[in-house]
Formats: sequence, structure tokens, C-alpha cells
Amino acid sequence: MSVLKLVWNIGVLWSFVLGVCAQSGPNAPASKESAPNPVADIYPDGITGTFNSSIFVLPIPFKLARSLIPQQWSINEKAYRELLPGFPKNSYPTVHTFFPFVDLFNDGYSSYTYNKYLLITATNQLGIGALPEYGTVPVPATFSPSLEAYGYSGNTSCPGEISFDAYSDFKLPPAPTVAIKFKDVGNVAPWHMNFYVNVTNQPIMTNGTVCDNQIFLYNTTLSNGVNAPRGVMGSVKLGAPLLPEDTTFNNVFGVRVDTAFLEIPSVPCPKLQGYHGTGPGDRGTF
Ligand SMILES: *[C@@H]1O[C@H](CO)[C@@H](O)[C@H](O)[C@H]1NC(C)=O
Ligand SMILES: *[C@@H]1O[C@H](CO)[C@@H](O)[C@H](O)[C@H]1NC(C)=O
Ligand SMILES: *[C@@H]1O[C@H](CO)[C@@H](O)[C@H](O)[C@H]1NC(C)=O
Ligand SMILES: *[C@@H]1O[C@H](CO)[C@@H](O)[C@H](O)[C@H]1NC(C)=O
Ligand SMILES: *[C@@H]1O[C@H](CO)[C@@H](O)[C@H](O)[C@H]1NC(C)=O
Repeated sequence: MSVLKLVWNIGVLWSFVLGVCAQSGPNAPASKESAPNPVADIYPDGITGTFNSSIFVLPIPFKLARSLIPQQWSINEKAYRELLPGFPKNSYPTVHTFFPFVDLFNDGYSSYTYNKYLLITATNQLGIGALPEYGTVPVPATFSPSLEAYGYSGNTSCPGEISFDAYSDFKLPPAPTVAIKFKDVGNVAPWHMNFYVNVTNQPIMTNGTVCDNQIFLYNTTLSNGVNAPRGVMGSVKLGAPLLPEDTTFNNVFGVRVDTAFLEIPSVPCPKLQGYHGTGPGDRGTF
């Protein structure tokens, strides 16, 4: 396995539930693999790829967020309120298992994404072995359908319903630690695209020492024109250890979009203080 592939496996910390790549199977409507990586030539020395994904905003009580995010860091509530007008009071926007807007340096403006656990394919020993550099706790898991794909649920009362489940190998009898069902709803609403661009571009960390600087670009052909982001709505169930109690979020909104990415792994987190993206494609201002 090449270094690049290895780093990609470890580094795309966002990927596990977010990854919605190619699609196959007898029940699948005609679909295609992610279009080719449009930025490989622009960053010939970088780790680049494409990431066809769905991203959901899961409101949890602010108090719960406060108890799950280590106490030494504050939460930039002002920043997410700005990006999420109309977001429920006393709530905090979890994005799957990620906790964005963590103010690592308590400076009031630097937002990092805190991620304690990563569900990762049990067979990916290299990936699991490398996670400790970030302090991230690997949760070996099995995905249904397998990693970075999604399936149509086949429920005839919900045509077009897409489903994705992840089973922690530690949980017996098996029950999904993550279960997602969703369908397309047209426009991206009620949360604005800027929010998704912003959260997916916050440096990812677990203990505040080493960060993963994932740059998701929304200004390539993958995310525009016929590939413009689509609104989705559905339900997401998260179980332990991701949340203290099994919780099902109904009628949650998200977006389905393909992006090109450039990844800069193993960046000392202090170097990213005040980080706000690199330009129009990852700043949400295009
Ligand atoms: C992303 O995946 C969906 C579902 O397979 C597909 O319809 C879409 O064309 C893909 N996007 C791109 C840009 O390839
Ligand atoms: C974070 O984890 C890394 C790797 O285990 C370790 O080197 C570093 O000291 C930890 N930082 C803190 C603040 O605990
Ligand atoms: C199919 O969808 C309906 C409506 O949402 C739901 O009540 C039913 O439980 C689903 N069936 C299965 C097998 O998931
Ligand atoms: C996200 O938005 C906040 C609030 O506007 C801003 O401070 C931060 O720099 C943004 N981050 C990125 C990666 O754009
Ligand atoms: C897309 O965004 C990136 C990073 O923000 C920027 O470097 C690049 O010039 C943008 N490309 C176009 C075509 O605007």
C-alpha cells in the first residue's frame, strides 16, 4: 500500500458516514462513480481526491455538547449562530459524530472540529494503527453497504430512500451504531450551503495537538452545474460511544454533494489558529 493511500485512509476523518461514493446493486437507479478528480493536476504534490458525500446537521442540547466537548475548550456559539440563522435555541449543531466550532485557543474566533471516535473498517489495520497520532479512538466497524457507498433501502413505501448503517464490532448483539435513512428534497434548506462549507473545512482534532487540515473545495465542476448540491432530509440514529445514549434524530436536514479535496495531514494545531480556509472554494463565499 502506498504512503498516499495509507494517509488517505487515515486522514479522511470525515469519511466514514459522510462518504457516499459510487453506487451499485440491482435496485439502484442509474448512477455513476464520482467524476474524475479535477484538482490532481493543480496540486501534483498534494494528497487529493474526490468525496461524494452527504452531510447532516444534528441538533443536540447545548448542555450535552458542553459535556461531551472537553471542558478546557470553549464553543464558538456566535460563529454557528451567524451561519445557521433560525437554529433552535439552546441547541448545538453536531455534524454526524463531529463537534465543530470548538475554540481550541479560547480566542473567540478559531473554530476547530473535535472528533473523539472514528468508526473505521475493522480490516483496515494500518488506518487503525495510525489514528493514535491524532489521539482519535478507533472503533472497528462494519459498514452496510460497505465503506463509502450507500444503498437504496428497498422499502417500497419509501421509493428512493437511501440507507447507510455502521455496526461497531464491539457491540453484541449487533445493532447499528450509526443508521441513516434519507431522501432527496430538492433545495438545500433550511441550513445554508455556507454552513456546510464552513464546518467541513474546520481543522479536525481530538486532543488539540495534531490536526488534520482537510480542504474541501466546492468550486469545481464536481459541486456545480448539474452536480450542484442537493438538499436531503431524513433520520439519523447514533449510539454509544458516539453519544452517551442511543438517539434518533428525525426530520434532520442535510446536503448531498461531491467535492474535490486536498488533505494536509499531521499539522500542529497551533499553526491553524485563526484558520479560515484558503480561498473562495473552501470559505463559503463564492
Ligand atoms: C455522486 O454520487 C451520486 C450517487 O451515486 C451520483 O448520482 C452523482 O453523479 C455523483 N456525483 C458526481 C459529481 O460524480
Ligand atoms: C495528543 O496525542 C498525541 C498522540 O498520542 C500525544 O503525542 C500528545 O501529547 C497528546 N496531547 C495532549 C495535549 O494530550
Ligand atoms: C418502510 O417505511 C415505512 C414508512 O416510513 C415504515 O413505517 C416501515 O417501518 C419501513 N419498513 C422497513 C422494513 O423498514
Ligand atoms: C467558519 O465561520 C466562522 C464564523 O464566521 C469563521 O470565524 C471561520 O473562520 C470559518 N471557517 C472556515 C474554515 O471558513
Ligand atoms: C477554488 O478555490 C480554491 C481555494 O479556495 C482557489 O485556490 C481556486 O482559485 C478556486 N478556483 C476557482 C476556479 O475559482
